[in-house]
Amino acid sequence: MKTLQLSALVAGLSVLVSAEGVPKTPQIFAHPKEPKNFQPGRLNRPHGRVCKVTPDATDSGPAILAAAHKCNHGGTVFLPSGDFVIATALDLTFLDDVDFAIWGNITFKQDIDLWPTQAFQYSYQSASMFWRFGGKNVNIYGDGKGVIDGAGQFWWSAMAKNSSVMRPCLLGTDGLHHATISGLKMLNPPGWFNLISNSTDVLVSDMTMLVGSQLTGAPAKNTDGWDIYRSSNIVIQNSVIVNTDGKTNFQSMGLLRKVLIRADCVSFKPNSTQVVVQGLDCTGSHGISVGSLGQYQGETDLVEDLYIYNITMTNAGDFARIKVWPGVPPNVTGSTSGGGLGLVRNVTYENMHSVNNDHVISVSQCYYAKSQDACNQYPSKLVIEDILFKDFEGTTSKKYDPKIGDLTCSSPDVCHNIEVVNINVTPPSGKAAVFNCVNMQDSNLGNVTCA
Ligand SMILES: *[C@@H]1O[C@H](CO)[C@@H](O)[C@H](O)[C@H]1NC(C)=O
Ligand SMILES: *[C@@H]1O[C@H](CO)[C@@H](O)[C@H](O)[C@H]1NC(C)=O
Ligand SMILES: *[C@@H]1O[C@H](CO)[C@@H](O)[C@H](O)[C@H]1NC(C)=O
Ligand SMILES: *[C@@H]1O[C@H](CO)[C@@H](O)[C@H](O)[C@H]1NC(C)=O
Ligand SMILES: *[C@@H]1O[C@H](CO)[C@@H](O)[C@H](O)[C@H]1NC(C)=O
Ligand SMILES: *[C@@H]1O[C@H](CO)[C@@H](O)[C@H](O)[C@H]1NC(C)=O
Ligand SMILES: *[C@@H]1O[C@H](CO)[C@@H](O)[C@H](O)[C@H]1NC(C)=O
Ligand SMILES: *[C@@H]1O[C@H](CO)[C@@H](O)[C@H](O)[C@H]1NC(C)=O
Repeated sequence: MKTLQLSALVAGLSVLVSAEGVPKTPQIFAHPKEPKNFQPGRLNRPHGRVCKVTPDATDSGPAILAAAHKCNHGGTVFLPSGDFVIATALDLTFLDDVDFAIWGNITFKQDIDLWPTQAFQYSYQSASMFWRFGGKNVNIYGDGKGVIDGAGQFWWSAMAKNSSVMRPCLLGTDGLHHATISGLKMLNPPGWFNLISNSTDVLVSDMTMLVGSQLTGAPAKNTDGWDIYRSSNIVIQNSVIVNTDGKTNFQSMGLLRKVLIRADCVSFKPNSTQVVVQGLDCTGSHGISVGSLGQYQGETDLVEDLYIYNITMTNAGDFARIKVWPGVPPNVTGSTSGGGLGLVRNVTYENMHSVNNDHVISVSQCYYAKSQDACNQYPSKLVIEDILFKDFEGTTSKKYDPKIGDLTCSSPDVCHNIEVVNINVTPPSGKAAVFNCVNMQDSNLGNVTCA
C-alpha cells in the first residue's frame, strides 16, 4: 500500500493514496419502519482520500481533528485497531461528506479536573460532551470492531464522593444531518451514552452498549442509551443495550439512604419528533421513555410522531413510559423542577415483549413530585394525546403484582385518546393483571382492568 506521510504537518496522521485494506461505508437501511422522507447519509460513496490516524495513548485529539479537516469533503477518517486516548475535546461540527471508520478503541482521559475546562457544555440538564459531531452527509461506523470505552467506573466512583462531578456523554451530535452511526461497541459511559441534539435524518443501527459496575458503593448512574433532543427524522434500531442497576450512597449530599439508580434505554427529550425506534433488546433500564418533559417553567416541550416497535425489555423498572413533571404553585417563577408546558402527541408503542419488568406501561405526570398531594394540587398542564399502546406480551416482576402499569394523568383536561389494546402480560402470581388508572375518562382502555 502506498502511503504519503504527512508527519511534517501533523504527528500521527498519514494520508493513504490506495484504498486497499481500508473500511467501506456499511450499507445499512432503516427497517422495517422509517419516518416519512427519511434521508440518512449517502451510502454508495467512493472512498476518496483516506486519513489514517496512528493510535496515541497520550492524546489522539489533535491528530483526529487534523484528519477530519484533511479528509473532509469526500474522504474517510480511519482509526485502525489500537488504543486512542482523547484528552482534548473535539469539535467536529464542520463535517461535510466524510466517513469515520473507527476500528480502534477510543477512551477519554480519566481526569475530573480536565473535562470541565474542555468539554462542550449545555444548560439543558447540565449535558456535556467529550466530542461532538455535526454537519452533513456523515457516516460513523465501527464494523463490529470499534470500541468507545468510557471507563465509567472512574467517574461513578468520583461521583459517589461529589455528585456534581461533570460526566460528559460518550458520543454527542449537535447539528448532524443526513448521517449514519453503526457497528460500534460502547462501554461504561460516565453519564449518558449518546445525546442526539439539533439533528435530522440520522440512522443509528447495530450498536452494542454495555454497562457494568464492579463497586457496590459506586454503581453506574444515568447511563441512558440514547437521549434525543431538538431532533427529528431519527431511527434507532437493531441494537443491544445492557444497563445494570445498583444502589449508591450520596455521601456528598449527606444522605444515608441508598438510592436505586436506573437509566432510560431510550429517552425522547423536548422536541423529539418523527422518531422510529425498532428491534432493540434492552436490559435493566427504566424504559423507553418520553420525557421527562415539563421540567422547565416557561418552556414548551413538543414530542410528536414517535413509533416504537418490536422491543424486548428485561428486568427494567418501566417499559413503555411517558413521564411529565408536575405543575407549580402560581407564585413560583423560574422553576427548573416542573411547571413547563407542551404536548405529547401521536406516540405508538407496538409489538412489545416484556420479561420481568416492574411495569409494562407507565404514564405519569408527577415525575419527581414532592408528594402526591402536592402534585394533585398543582397539576401539570402539559397535554398528552393520541397515544397507542398495542400488542404487549410477556411477564412482569413481582414488585407490584398484580398491577402491571400506571395510567395516571394529573387532571381530566390534559389527557385525550390514550388507547390500550391487546395487553397479554401476566404477573408472576398468575392473577388477572390490573392497572392504576386516574383521569382516563377521555380514553379507550380496551379490556384493561383498572384497579
Ligand atoms: C481500551 O483502552 C483502554 C485504555 O488503554 C483500556 O483500559 C481498555 O481495556 C480498552 N478496552 C478495550 C475493549 O480494548
Ligand atoms: C464537586 O465538583 C464540582 C464540579 O466539578 C466542583 O465545582 C466542586 O468544587 C466539587 N466539590 C468538592 C467538595 O470537591
Ligand atoms: C442546539 O442549537 C441551539 C440553537 O442554535 C443551541 O443554543 C444549542 O447549544 C444547541 N445544542 C443543544 C444540545 O441544545
Ligand atoms: C420546542 O419547539 C417549540 C415550538 O417550536 C419552541 O417554542 C420551543 O422553544 C422548543 N423547545 C426547545 C427546548 O427547543
Ligand atoms: C424484532 O427485532 C429483532 C431484533 O431484536 C429481530 O431479530 C426481529 O426480526 C424483529 N421482528 C420484527 C417483526 O421486526
Ligand atoms: C404519527 O406518527 C407516525 C410515526 O412517525 C407517522 O407515520 C404518522 O403519519 C403520524 N400520524 C399523524 C396523524 O400525524
Ligand atoms: C408561595 O405561596 C405559599 C403559600 O402562601 C408559600 O408557602 C410559599 O413560600 C410561596 N412561594 C414562593 C416561591 O413565594
Ligand atoms: C385482552 O384481549 C386480548 C385479545 O384481544 C387477550 O389476549 C388478553 O388476554 C385480554 N386481556 C385481559 C386482561 O383480559
